[in-house]
Amino acid sequence: MAEFDQSKAYAEQEEVFFDDGRELELLHFVYGKPDIEEIRGNPQKVLAAIDEFARTKKYLMNVGEDKGKIVTELISEVKPETMVELGGYIGYSCLLYADAVRKAGGKRYFSLERDPVFGAVISSLVDLAGLGDFVKVIIGSSAVSIKRLHTEGTLKHIDMMFLDHYKPAYKTDLKLCEELKLVTPGSVLAADNVIKPGNPPYLEYVRSSVAEKRKAAEDSSDESNPDARFADRTAKQYANRQTEEKLQQSRGNPNLIYESKLINSYEPSGVPDGVEITRCTGEESS
Ligand SMILES: C[S@@+](CC[C@H](N)C(=O)[O-])C[C@H]1O[C@@H](n2cnc3c(N)ncnc32)[C@H](O)[C@@H]1O
Repeated sequence: MAEFDQSKAYAEQEEVFFDDGRELELLHFVYGKPDIEEIRGNPQKVLAAIDEFARTKKYLMNVGEDKGKIVTELISEVKPETMVELGGYIGYSCLLYADAVRKAGGKRYFSLERDPVFGAVISSLVDLAGLGDFVKVIIGSSAVSIKRLHTEGTLKHIDMMFLDHYKPAYKTDLKLCEELKLVTPGSVLAADNVIKPGNPPYLEYVRSSVAEKRKAAEDSSDESNPDARFADRTAKQYANRQTEEKLQQSRGNPNLIYESKLINSYEPSGVPDGVEITRCTGEESS
């Protein structure tokens, strides 16, 4: 793994590091740039302006350049027709990946974001970057949005998914996507923050064999539910409203075969982190 380039480090992460007005400050910063007319229509230049804000003004909880590159390289290889991200924040990963999906010949990028103000920031920057016809920003809790998009027929299959939202929901949302047959053999998943802060239940799930998942499905009971324990722990760690989330338990599809590996990298602040890349390679008959 290459060394982290300290000259590109984001500003330090403060105790309160989002939802304190900085997301709207970012919009003023970007639209106030003297070269705004050159930025317009160019996703890479919008990303550079966001990075500049996060380096010189305030920290932003973006995936950042290093981990972002892992996913854009995967996009060029997989060439997804449809890509979905869970957790859009101010649109950094959305701009970076939607640009890559469009360049790879894809059709649609869905950014699912729960917070309506953050969602409005994403839409504004997506429009500025000229990606308005390609990206659909969906406001609401991921599980509710996934179900609705599936029922409407707007989302028929997920070729690639980036998971970067409420950590305990990675596993439950993946299982929902399996149950709805949105994730099937051929789907590829990229999960952020599997080192910092970490996501043991998700990693265990995507690294389990079909036999192990079938057994876990049989054994699961409310009292011993490790997902509930993880959600409880997460709620105690983060005293903010990111944690006020009811997890929806889906059956999933334990018959799906995954090949999963961790790619080590860095947060944009330089803190070590990793992205778990998971490929669904087949399905065992039940
Ligand atoms: C780490 S940020 C996402 C960063 C973004 N992917 C990027 O790299 O530019 C996490 C985001 O997930 C959103 N979020 C949390 N729980 C969610 C849920 N259940 N559904 C949709 N969005 C959620 C938060 O509001 C926050 O904006």
